[in-house]
Amino acid sequence: GKGEKGEYIEVDENEKLPNSEQRKWEQEQIKSAFFKFGAKDAKAQDEYELLLDEQIDFIQALQLEGNQEKKDEEKISEYKKARLTIEETKKSLPVFPFRDSLIEAIKNYQILIVEGETGSGKTTQIPQYLHEAGFTDDGKKIGCTQPRRVAAMSVAARVAQEMNVKLGNEVGYSIRFEDCTSDRTVIKYMTDGTLHREFLSEPDLASYSVMIIDEAHERTLHTDILFGLVKDITRFRPDLKLLISSATLDAEKFSTFFDDAPIFRIPGRRFPVHIYYTKAPEADYIDACVVTVLQIHATQPLGDILVFLTGQEEIETCVEMLQERTKKIGKKLKELIILPVYANLPTDMQAKIFEPTPEGARKVVLATNIAETSLTIDNIIYVIDPGFAKQNNFNSKTGMESLMVVPISKASANQRAGRAGRVAAGKCFRLYTAWAYKHELEDNTVPEIQRINLGNAVLTLKALGINDLIHFDFLDPPPHETLVLALEQLYALGALNHHGELTKAGRRMAEFPTDPMLAKMLLASEKYKCSEEIVSIAAMLSVNSSVFYRPKDKIIHADTARKNFFHRHGDHLTIMNVYNQWADSDYSVQWCYENFIQYRSMKRARDVREQLVGLMERVEIDMVSSISDDTNIRKAITAGYFYHIAKFSKGGHYKTVKHNQTVMIHPNSALFEELPRWVIYHELVFTSKEFMRQVTEIESKWLLEVAPHYYKSKELEDSTNKKMPKTIGKSANNF
Ligand code: CDP
Ligand code: MG
Repeated sequence: GKGEKGEYIEVDENEKLPNSEQRKWEQEQIKSAFFKFGAKDAKAQDEYELLLDEQIDFIQALQLEGNQEKKDEEKISEYKKARLTIEETKKSLPVFPFRDSLIEAIKNYQILIVEGETGSGKTTQIPQYLHEAGFTDDGKKIGCTQPRRVAAMSVAARVAQEMNVKLGNEVGYSIRFEDCTSDRTVIKYMTDGTLHREFLSEPDLASYSVMIIDEAHERTLHTDILFGLVKDITRFRPDLKLLISSATLDAEKFSTFFDDAPIFRIPGRRFPVHIYYTKAPEADYIDACVVTVLQIHATQPLGDILVFLTGQEEIETCVEMLQERTKKIGKKLKELIILPVYANLPTDMQAKIFEPTPEGARKVVLATNIAETSLTIDNIIYVIDPGFAKQNNFNSKTGMESLMVVPISKASANQRAGRAGRVAAGKCFRLYTAWAYKHELEDNTVPEIQRINLGNAVLTLKALGINDLIHFDFLDPPPHETLVLALEQLYALGALNHHGELTKAGRRMAEFPTDPMLAKMLLASEKYKCSEEIVSIAAMLSVNSSVFYRPKDKIIHADTARKNFFHRHGDHLTIMNVYNQWADSDYSVQWCYENFIQYRSMKRARDVREQLVGLMERVEIDMVSSISDDTNIRKAITAGYFYHIAKFSKGGHYKTVKHNQTVMIHPNSALFEELPRWVIYHELVFTSKEFMRQVTEIESKWLLEVAPHYYKSKELEDSTNKKMPKTIGKSANNF
């Protein structure tokens, strides 16, 4: 029955099953759509039939084109013959012929929009050109923002290599919790979030001569806010050059926003990409990916394959499946080198993606949409696109944020396909129907600012002294209610007073490069005298991937090991146990291995923890321990996350207190079988249902202690006909 445990035990596969739910849903949508249009829409029918031409079986498609294949093969081998040196590679990039005219344009205009196809050399070359042209001679730096951590790190590494310097010296990068720069750094890559925070310590960006807002088309929240901030700066820093660089056709929009700044277009080189669709929706796209990779490998001329998946878990599954099947096939086929790419990929693995494929072998890269525009991998001829991406979505009505897998936009699909045409004519296999492409996919991805929680951004802006957010210069403004909700949340957290001004607590919270709730939890550890424990918990929460290692062939052992860490009050204390025991083992690798813990994640947690301890010192919180009193620790967590409270209700599931949404405890939780009455959760993940991840038991009366302005004792009673409370009555105009 609904809500009984038996129903969701099977969902233990974490993020895997959910996708199949999603796919089932897509399939149904498509089926019902077919029905609808069959009779009525003759024009759509015609268009559909045009597209239908390309919907042939992949195998058929792969065999049909014998002659064309030969030509392609020649092209590829020509390309491969030319193993270029670094100097030659630099000269071969589309941006190279425009070096001088680009520098000229930058000298003539303060703001320039640069548009060029992905892979044309914008990110790696332009900062070097500027450096060579003397833009760093006055001791100032060239900054370049990237929406993604991995991109910032790997591009910096590449540029350091091209300039033959040590990474972290002349060329460095800075990302959250990790600064790899020095006094000598003149070219600095950083995430957009990092630059956003740099404004706090250097509001006029005085140490930069040029700032490049790169990958502007990605329209992440931080990039969007940076647009407004840097535009403002250029008015009182006439010597600062500003470049907005973008891959696609948003250039006009950026130009209009930046007072009609000129657009510098780098003509792209692109070979044709033939697009294939499936005849029918794929029931299991992971499996379809694996099959398609193997078909390409068996029948197609050499050339590397790029597969787009939604996240680390999916990528790891796909890697395992490919390894298994290629092992079975054995030496009958050429070598297939399987490489994953995702946000938390360890540094040594990152370098591997860019190594040239050995003669006679083929590389298959399994990536998240990081490879859509942020990273260019050379020699890709085949792209496999299942049509999904993971997205953070925020419901401003309920204030609930959750991570879910959603269909990509047409713009994304076309970017993905374009990756196949950089070095020769390519092929893109879309694991969805032509009909779905045409009718199901939105034209463009909605910018993040219009679909995620703005709490963090609003807090930083307030800390920058920007009080009037309604009139902030947004490229596209966020929805009014999202902004209001962010202000209300910050008010409830005590970061803003009722005039919407930053409080002392708010100023301290802004010191932390984290979500305001996490910052509040860290501050609350002062009162509850458990800063040592809370900092460990915060560090573990900041390592987004699970620290528990669960290899397929040792699931039982791994689960037993995991259960040994379980704390009876829940997951926050469980991960704290993991951290403390690891610290007791003197941070041993062997210990991780024996306990099925991911060493790399732990190492990162340790780095994050160190940074957090430094920040605690800055806000003058002493490090003290309250290990024997877990009530204090849980109260401190509650002080930060009192928005995330759910109460056990009839039918075996939970309801969120404020909005009465049905949520479940994630099967991996220590409390999965306990089902305490009141719980606090760290995040919601929507897969087949809304799952709470990182769940801890609390007592409802604590809510009155830590958030008396938010909870009334009435709503914490067990009466069944409780009334929905009013939200805090502040209109945004007061802020
Ligand atoms: O920014 P844009 O997309 O225009 O191009 P880019 O990232 O500067 O890439 C230019 C070239 O550098 C491509 O051929 C990449 O494959 C190469 N590259 C690399 O080899 N290693 C990296 N870590 C980054 C880029
Ligand atoms: Mg780039």
